Formats: sequence, C-alpha cells, structure tokens
Amino acid sequence: MADIKNEISKRKTFAIISHPDAGKTTLTEKFLLYGGAIQTAGAVKSNKIKKSATSDFMEIERQRGISVATSVMTFEFKGMLINLLDTPGHKDFAEDTYRTLTAVDSVILVIDCVKGVEEQTEKLMEVCRMRDTPVIVFVNKLDRDGKDPFDLMDEIEAKLDIRLHPLSWPINRGPFFKGVYNIFDRNLNLFRASSQKVEEEYVSISNLDNEELDRQIGRDADQLRTDIELIEGVYGDFDTSTYLSGKIAPVFFGSAINNFGVRELLETFIRIAPNPRPRYTDTRLVEPEEKKFSGFIFKIHANIDPNHRNRIAFLRICSGVFERNKFYKHVRLDKEMRFSSPATFMASEKNIIDEAYPGDVIGLYDTGNFKIGDTLTEGEKMTYKGIPSFSPEIFRELINKDPMKTKQLEKGIMQLTEEGVAQVFTILHGSTKIIGTVGDLQFDVIQYRLKNEYGASAEFRPINYYKACWITAEDPTEMNNFIRTKANYMAYDRENNPVFLASSEWILKLTQQDYPAIQFHFSSEFKTD
Ligand code: G4P
Repeated sequence: MADIKNEISKRKTFAIISHPDAGKTTLTEKFLLYGGAIQTAGAVKSNKIKKSATSDFMEIERQRGISVATSVMTFEFKGMLINLLDTPGHKDFAEDTYRTLTAVDSVILVIDCVKGVEEQTEKLMEVCRMRDTPVIVFVNKLDRDGKDPFDLMDEIEAKLDIRLHPLSWPINRGPFFKGVYNIFDRNLNLFRASSQKVEEEYVSISNLDNEELDRQIGRDADQLRTDIELIEGVYGDFDTSTYLSGKIAPVFFGSAINNFGVRELLETFIRIAPNPRPRYTDTRLVEPEEKKFSGFIFKIHANIDPNHRNRIAFLRICSGVFERNKFYKHVRLDKEMRFSSPATFMASEKNIIDEAYPGDVIGLYDTGNFKIGDTLTEGEKMTYKGIPSFSPEIFRELINKDPMKTKQLEKGIMQLTEEGVAQVFTILHGSTKIIGTVGDLQFDVIQYRLKNEYGASAEFRPINYYKACWITAEDPTEMNNFIRTKANYMAYDRENNPVFLASSEWILKLTQQDYPAIQFHFSSEFKTD
C-alpha cells in the first residue's frame, strides 16, 4: 500500500462550475488534453447535455446515463493526480451540482466576459460560500468583445459577494485581443492567431518599463502599464492563505476554445489549490491522514433501463485507504458492507480499483442501501456534515392515479427522493404529498420513472408556493405555537423536520416579522450547524 501522506499530497479534487454556455465543457476538455486523459477534442463535448434537448427529458436522461462515464475525470499533470468532478450544466439538475460541490476541495468558476455574472453563477457561488470553498475565477471568451475587465471585476465582486485578486490581466479584447500579462509570474502570454490555429507565446518581462513590451504589443503597452500599476496598488501581493480560506478568489483571463490561458490556469491551480482537506462529521473533525477509512455518498445515479435496476452510489473518500472487499460500516443502517467491484469511470471506461485514497471518488454498485449523505467508516459512528437540501423552486401536489398501486408509488417516491431527483414534503394535516424540484423537467422525469420502474401512475397539480423553509426555535413552546397557528402551511420533510411553505416572498417576510422567535432556514444545512 502506498504511503497515505504522499498520496494525499499528490491529489487535488475539484469541480468546474459555470452558468450554462460560459465554457465549462470546453475548459474541461482542454484540461483533459493537457493531462493526456483524452486524445482528441470533442470527447467530453459529446457527453454534454445538449441545449436542443431541453424539452426532451428522455434524451436528457439518456445523456445523463452517458455522463456517468465522466462523473469523475482523473488525470495527471506534472506529477499531481487531479480528480475533476463533473457537474451537469442544465439548470434543472442544479441540485446535482450543489451536492457535487460538497465532495470537492476547490472549484474553478468560469465566467463569460460578454455576459458577466449570470443567475446560475450566483447560486453556485452561494453554495461555495456556505463551505468556504476556495474559488479560482476564469474569465472566458476574451476573443469576444466583452465587458471592460475593471467593470467586470466590480460586477463579479458585487454580485458574487467575494473579493477578487487578478493574477493575470488581458491586453485589449475582442478582435484586438493580444494576450494576457501574468501578474503572478511576471510574463507575457501572447495570443497569436493565424487562420488555422492559435498559438501561445510566452515572453518573460519582469519589468514592464522594458521596451520589449512596446515591441511586442505596440500601442497597448502603455494601457497595460497603467492597468497593472492600478491593480498592484489596489490589490497588493497575493496571499495564498486568503484564497485557501475562501476569502479571496484569484482571477485569470483567457479563451478556452482557443486553448489560451488554460495552461497558466492549470499550472497555478496545481500550485495553489488545496489537497484533500479535513472534514467535519457530527462528532469531530476528521483528518485525511488518519489511518482508518471514512467517506460519504454525495450522488446516486440510477439506471433508467428497467432491466437493470441497480444504482451507482458515488463515494468521496475523506480519510484512510479504501480497500476492495474489506468490510465497512454503513453508519445509518448500522450494517457491515463490502464492495467487490468499486469502480472509477473515465471516458466511458470503467475500471475496478483495489484501493482509493482521500480525495478520490469511486462508484459503488448499490441495490437500494444508500441515500445521499450516507457515511461509511471502519466502525466509528459518525456522519459527514454539510450535504444540504435547498428549498425547491417549483412545488406540485402528487396525485395518485391508480389506487391499486399506492405502495409502488410510495416506494418509487421514496427511492427517487433518496437519489435526490426531488424533495418530498408531507402536509401536516392529511397525507397530501408535495413534490419540490428546481426545474420543470424533473416532473416529467419522475412521472416517467414512476410508471416505468415502479408501475405507478402519478400526476402533478400545480401549487403556488414560493419557498420551503426549515424552521427551528430555541423555545419549544414558541415552535408548537407556530406550528399550530400556521398548520395550513406546515409540512414535514423526509426526515420529519418541520417545514413552513410560504406562498409568496411577501408572506414570508411578514411571517418572519411576526414570529421573531422562529428561525427560518433556506437549506436543510441548519441541522448540521
Ligand atoms: P458550458 O459547458 O459552460 O455550457 O459551455 P461550452 O463549453 O459548451 O461552451 C459554450 C459555447 O461557447 C460553445 O459554442 C463553445 O464553443 C463556446 N466557447 C467556449 N469557449 C470559448 C471562447 O473562449 N471563445 C469563444 N468565442 N467561444 C467559446 P457553441 O456554439 O454553443 O457550441 P459548439 O458548436 O462550438 O460546440
């Protein structure tokens, strides 16, 4: 068995996140090309859920099936072992992305310089902030006529509520884009576009007053000097520890499609991004170097083929060494389990592994034992924290169309919610079930899967709720009083936590004012605070 400390120091586990279309897939592909994990451009792209498929959920499910293959992309770069966790770009699967973010140690956030900060970017950043995840920003598509970089920096800082620190700076933009100046390494990376291809050319310029700069970029040299002086005055020296604590996000500029600025991003990433980090369980902080294995399930992928009902549960290893065929404790079920074919997935190739180390993600075949958030250990009773559910955005009442299949319907809903396809709330009075999702598409998926996999018929009736808020109160009398008075708007989540269903933003505000003793939470994370 390899030395665990050495294995940990080699690993970086991260995700690339972006609003759809900003360039996540393109950047992923370029990283994999650098790592030699794929040979040709286009290999990842073909796994992407295509925009044209938005109304065709079957096509999306099919592609989701393919994308199991790229759930974790492992590649080596300069002696480092990089685990890149894939996140679905489609907004209706945002919950999948949020959960994947619980399994990474850092992220690269891609922003389109033409569009700036978009809706999905804001939400993803919120999730990163909840866990103080270190973020590197990559401003993409510099070959397009985008926003002024200073304006863009202001916009990102304001909308994403994070302080930035540019480590590179663009020289002009759009058709006049000349390249970037690397503030960190003090060199110029020139963008040389010919009709066939784009080339990167590095020129070392430690002093910007050097006339070489004028020779290389002509009239843009003075502008660059002014910009860099301003930047250095405002931002000072870069301090890696503020990045690692999630307080400051370094920024790079480039053009992923042209493979420009990608190498310096990757090289800086492997230098500054964190190795597998310690993680909290409900009882203590677990260090990755600990001898005993532990890890948690953050994603479950069901096979939509009714003939193959198995599921794949994705496990993030947090400490110790995971070994094939060894018995581990499934803490929630208090059950010993062993896995004979733990797998890694890469570019449609499935490999059975014998050992895995902290930071690694492996797929375990599951016949219904796992749900998201489950912890495996070598015997210790502890559960990893911080795998939250967020308030859904769309709510519908579940209508059973075939009373003969009530049991099947309940089983189906239980299993689909365990997989994280949707959330279910049971209304306080009566047994009405409300299904909550982040996208319309999920309802089609649920209806189809209930029919095909469980033989149950369901329909959904629209209900006008704005948010589901988990509620807590220090004083149990206040809590009971609230639940009694708001009985018509009260429900319970799958774990029997009380949830207030607010019909509008205005009602929510009013209720918050009227009941100061009640705390309203917008994610189930409060349970693990
Ligand atoms: P996503 O995964 O974040 O959704 O984005 P993706 O990489 O698929 O990129 C979205 C579109 O933006 C693609 O174009 C891609 O080629 C383009 N793109 C990515 N990086 C750059 C860049 O640096 N500059 C420019 N100008 N475009 C870039 P598409 O037309 O939607 O797809 P395709 O036909 O090129 O595959």
